Amino acid sequence: MNLTNRRILIGVTGGIAAYKTAYLTRLLVKAGADVRVVMTEAGTKFVTPLTFESLTDNDVAVDMFPPGKFVGTRHISYAEWADLIVIAPATADFIAQIANGFCQNLLSTIVCAASKQILIAPAMNDGMYSSPAVQKNIATLREQDYKFIDVGIGEMACNSFGPGRMAEPDEIFERISELLQKDGPLAGKNIIVTAGPCREAIDPVRFISNRSSGKMGYAIAIEAEKLGASVTLISGSVALPAPDGVEVINVETTQEMAEAVYDRFDNSDYLVMAAAPADYKPTISFDQKIKKCGNKMMVEFSPTPDILKSLIPKRNDKQTIIGFALETENVIENANKKLIDKKLDYIVVNDATEKGAGFDTDTNRVTVLAINGDSIDIDLADKDVIARKIWEYVLGDE
Ligand code: CTP
Repeated sequence: MNLTNRRILIGVTGGIAAYKTAYLTRLLVKAGADVRVVMTEAGTKFVTPLTFESLTDNDVAVDMFPPGKFVGTRHISYAEWADLIVIAPATADFIAQIANGFCQNLLSTIVCAASKQILIAPAMNDGMYSSPAVQKNIATLREQDYKFIDVGIGEMACNSFGPGRMAEPDEIFERISELLQKDGPLAGKNIIVTAGPCREAIDPVRFISNRSSGKMGYAIAIEAEKLGASVTLISGSVALPAPDGVEVINVETTQEMAEAVYDRFDNSDYLVMAAAPADYKPTISFDQKIKKCGNKMMVEFSPTPDILKSLIPKRNDKQTIIGFALETENVIENANKKLIDKKLDYIVVNDATEKGAGFDTDTNRVTVLAINGDSIDIDLADKDVIARKIWEYVLGDE
């Protein structure tokens, strides 16, 4: 599963299984998650903070009050930052602390302050694991909706045999992915959204482009994420903040946008081409700045790839492709032609001459045309409302 932009806090307590947590950390980072590690003092005796710092590229926090460092309410900010906290390995002592509300160290304080999902991967000797005290603490935490990943049965570091081994990193990774699986009608769907203008260089300081702001595409991506999708936003040059929970890939030229789409297209369920690629680029892009000479200047343009058209032979029946069209005349007729020529499922069309619609506004007014002949008019509204209504129409139609 792609965990891009998911924030995972790993708590490492003092058990030999901490070495497996290094591998778990690697799996999470590879899946795109933003990972931070907090260790108890005992945890650092088994694996050093440096190991986790190297794996996550983030500081590892251990002390509640590190000497010479102002940390303020770090326990609260860590608790609020994480989408999910996983304690691996969780010792009998640590489980007892959190089951009884003790806040003796930074990690137990974070757990106490957290309101997000907490997954616990116990690891201890079989006798300890089976003891009534530990079982009672686990039952207490389960009642409070803490999630547990079952221990394995097998040989222990202390040479005894029984239940108590920490689950394997792959299993913990799968469980984290399940817990982070989103709800909503687009849950489990991979969606590519393109947004914004492409730029084509004339020389190192000049380019041709268009007036697209990217706002409509960004709104489509944000709404898709809220509806549960895993969203990749391929963005031209815009002045908009990267939306939370969305993977953003920045591109400049139409060719770069095309390649970014091709790379991900096979794995996608929906493609929404809200971007305004450049239809032409200068045939020659000069290496050095063109100097002013006072005479007329000619720039010759060559066509760029039509991204949607080039996808026609690559697409499968399960994919839904949504194009956009900005027209200034014969609006519906032109849009219908694009819907058919580019073999789209839907096209969202707006009239650039209409007040409050089109480029660089916060509002829009659109018509969505479906390939089956249906259509819907969406009245003037903020682009986030328009985006939500487009998704509702597409989802209601399927
Ligand atoms: N599009 C594309 N590749 C291009 C240009 C456009 O995939 N090189 C996509 C746009 O993202 C949009 C749809 O095609 O979803 C229609 O774009 P538009 O600019 O309205 O139409 P064009 O095909 O470029 O035709 P024209 O400019 O002549 O209206």
